[in-house]
Amino acid sequence: MKPVRLDKFLSDSGIGTRSQVKLLLKKGSVSVNGEIIRQPELKIAPESDTVSFQGAILSHSEFYYYMLNKPAGYVSATDDNTAPTVLSLLKNAPGRGLFPVGRLDKDTEGLLLITNDGPLAHRLLSPKNHVDKTYLVHALGLITADDLIRLESGIDIGEKAPTLPAGAKLLSVKTNNGHAVSLVELTIHEGKFHQVKRMFQAIGKPVLSLKRLSMGTLLLDETLAPGEFRMLTDEELANLRA
Ligand code: URA
Repeated sequence: MKPVRLDKFLSDSGIGTRSQVKLLLKKGSVSVNGEIIRQPELKIAPESDTVSFQGAILSHSEFYYYMLNKPAGYVSATDDNTAPTVLSLLKNAPGRGLFPVGRLDKDTEGLLLITNDGPLAHRLLSPKNHVDKTYLVHALGLITADDLIRLESGIDIGEKAPTLPAGAKLLSVKTNNGHAVSLVELTIHEGKFHQVKRMFQAIGKPVLSLKRLSMGTLLLDETLAPGEFRMLTDEELANLRA
């Protein structure tokens, strides 16, 4: 890769236009190899120099990968007229054309991968790859051994075929205002529309809250508060790609 001007590298990273980038440089928001740099014309070698923006290391490839702990109340879309989007939570994050990999319902919380790597997203979402997704489910009612068997062996949710075999584990049962509330860990290998809610509806124990804990090899970093995000580590990314 040829040396490039720092302002071009920064604007190609999606941080802002060339003129916005110049202002950010003036403010001292950018460092190269640990040193704050204010000159837009400085030439950098993208593969060997480490460029950071507000503390986050910018990738020399055009792809960026973030893990978001999605809070309830945000839609998994790039644009929406009715509610804030998950992308609005990544306002200052580098990366052009970021999008969420798949959808979590507006009221669902937890792990959401956000990237601009279309081919990787496609691989993770392709039904033929059966990428595991694990959810923590609070359901109204007492989940019985028979319910667990039905969830695990495949259940009619109104599609052409029943759901694929899944993993279901009852973690606890509590009483809330006189009603039993069961906590279940459910792992599914597909991703039909509202799948988890429809599976629990089918056993007559509606979902009260839903949180995604993992997608394939990627586990939610529990140190992220709802609404917080971070870049994937090299190891997380390599495992996801494998
Ligand atoms: N299944 C659902 O019903 N909702 C989600 O957000 C994710 C999986």
